[in-house]
Amino acid sequence: MRKHIVAGNWKMNNGLIQTKSLISDLKKQTKTSDAEVMIAPTFTNLWHAFESTRQDDIEVVAQNMHFSENGAYTGEISAGMLKSIGIKTVILGHSERRAYYNETDQDLAKKVDTALANEMKVIFCFGEELADRKAGNEETVVENQIKNALFHLEADVFKNIILAYEPVWAIGTGETATPDQAQDMHAFIRKTLENTYGNEVADEVSILYGGSVKPNNAKEIFGKPDVDGGLIGGASLNAEDFFAIVNAF
Ligand code: 13P
Repeated sequence: MRKHIVAGNWKMNNGLIQTKSLISDLKKQTKTSDAEVMIAPTFTNLWHAFESTRQDDIEVVAQNMHFSENGAYTGEISAGMLKSIGIKTVILGHSERRAYYNETDQDLAKKVDTALANEMKVIFCFGEELADRKAGNEETVVENQIKNALFHLEADVFKNIILAYEPVWAIGTGETATPDQAQDMHAFIRKTLENTYGNEVADEVSILYGGSVKPNNAKEIFGKPDVDGGLIGGASLNAEDFFAIVNAF
């Protein structure tokens, strides 16, 4: 059975004081669903977040990393550095990184390889822009993003990959994909996996939806058979809202 996962991507929000306070609020929440809970604070707060959630059912994950193991890359963070503080999962390919830092599918293929070589799990993000959807190209765009960054991998490593479909037009806009739009795309993604890797891999990979998921729409989106969880931006910055989404399963 594939896992249900709800991950909070805090993006570039929360200094140390706010991080402490949000984590303390998160610890007060009660989980009533079977979803695995992840939070992705910014780099400077990963260590604190990791240390302070050791006893809790919350995994702390990173928002990004470099594809090199180490070296002259000023300002960058390596997989080894993340692992050295206990981080085992990294988000890669977020549309904001693709758009603002020109991360290409080729860069992402290298990052995925580096993460896997370091025995880390990857939450791999992708999704079409509004113009792609208006032109009816959303499936082609998504298929290419997945194929270019992931389809060089062997089938057995897919147990370490979590997919996150995040249509760019739904991120931070308050305009969410309808549950049917999310389901259609997730089913297409699963079919694409199945065509290359077979049934078993396709059935086991969790596919998360991201883009304006809120407490009032999570249940309907998560109710769809191919939606295995959510990658939550804005609503993950409030502990009650975030857990309302976690408990929507
Ligand atoms: P919002 O939930 O704020 O739309 O952000 C989604 C997202 O980008 C999560 O990675």
